[in-house]
Amino acid sequence: MSVKIALLGFGTVGQGTYRALTLNAGVIKSKTGLELKVTKILEKNPAATESGVAPRKLFTQNYDDILSDNDIQIVVEMMGGVEPASSFMLQALKTGKSVVTPNKDVVAKNFQKLHLAAKNSGALLKYEAAVGGAIPVINSLSGPLIANSITKIQGIVNGTTNYILTKMEEDGLSYEEALKRAQAKGFAEADPTSDVEGIDAANKLTILIAEAWKTYIPPTAFKRVGITGVSKQDLKNAKEKACKIKLIASAEMTKEGIVASVQPQELPMDSPLAGIKNEFNGILISCNMAGDIFLSGKGAGMDPTGSAVAGDIIEIARHLKNGI
Ligand code: HSE
Repeated sequence: MSVKIALLGFGTVGQGTYRALTLNAGVIKSKTGLELKVTKILEKNPAATESGVAPRKLFTQNYDDILSDNDIQIVVEMMGGVEPASSFMLQALKTGKSVVTPNKDVVAKNFQKLHLAAKNSGALLKYEAAVGGAIPVINSLSGPLIANSITKIQGIVNGTTNYILTKMEEDGLSYEEALKRAQAKGFAEADPTSDVEGIDAANKLTILIAEAWKTYIPPTAFKRVGITGVSKQDLKNAKEKACKIKLIASAEMTKEGIVASVQPQELPMDSPLAGIKNEFNGILISCNMAGDIFLSGKGAGMDPTGSAVAGDIIEIARHLKNGI
C-alpha cells in the first residue's frame, strides 16, 4: 500500500525525516509492506530547496497546494515555532489529514486544541519526536506502560544544555564556545534562549505530564530555572563531591497533586541520569507495577529526530492500511 505524505519545513528535522523515509524505504517496505511517498514539501528557503536532498519538483510555497490535495493523508509539521505551524496543523486535522510533529512548543501550548481537532475529524495526531528525540518515551507511556500508575518522571530532555554542561565539565570549554558548537551541530533551537533557560525542557515536561497522568499543566505553571547560572566552578565543585550537575525536568505525583519543575540539580554518580552525556537524553519513569524504567538515546539532531518522526508516520500509515 502506498501512502502519500507532505512535509512542512525542510530544515534539520525535515531533511532527517526525508532521509529516514528514502534511505530506509527498502527496510520499511520489507517490515511493513508500506510505500511511503513524500509528494509535497512546503519550504521556501533556497538553502533547503536547492540542497539536492529532495527533488526540486516536490517543493511548494503554498500550503493550500497541500491542504487541497486529497491524496495526501499525512501532514508532517517540522517548521518549528508556534505560528503558522499551529494553524497549519489544526487545518490539516480539520480536513481529516493525520498530523505528525516534533514541535514541542506547539504540542505543549495547544495540547488540548490539537487533540480535540483530531478527535472531531477522526484523524490521528502523533508527536513522539517532541520529547527525547529518538527515544520512544511517548509511545512507552501510552503503550507498554499504560497499565501502570506513574509515580515520578525525571529526565534530561534537552540535548543542547546537556551538551553544553558536558563540554564545560569534561573539555573545559567556555559556556559560549560549547553553545556555539551545539548550534553548529543543529541541536539548538533557532533562538537558543529556549534551550538554555529551560523553556524547551519545560515544554517537554508538559507533554510528559499529559501523557503520564492525562493532566494538562502549561509549561508556564511550574518552576523553571535554566543553566545560564551554572559555572565551570560549580561543575568542578560537584565533581569533587562525586556528583554531576544536570538540567532535570521532574514531575512527581504527591498527595497534593503533581509537583513539577525544571532546574539544574546535583546528581550522585550512581544515578542513571548522571551518566548521560553530550546531546544524549535520559528519562527515568517510576511505575507502580513495572518499577523503574530508564530510557536513553540521542535527544536531538537530524537523523535521530528524523527516525522518531518517521516512526510516527509509519504507525499512522499502518492504521490507514488496516483501517483502524
Ligand atoms: N533544542 C532541542 C534540544 C532539540 O537541544 O534538545 C530537540 O528537541
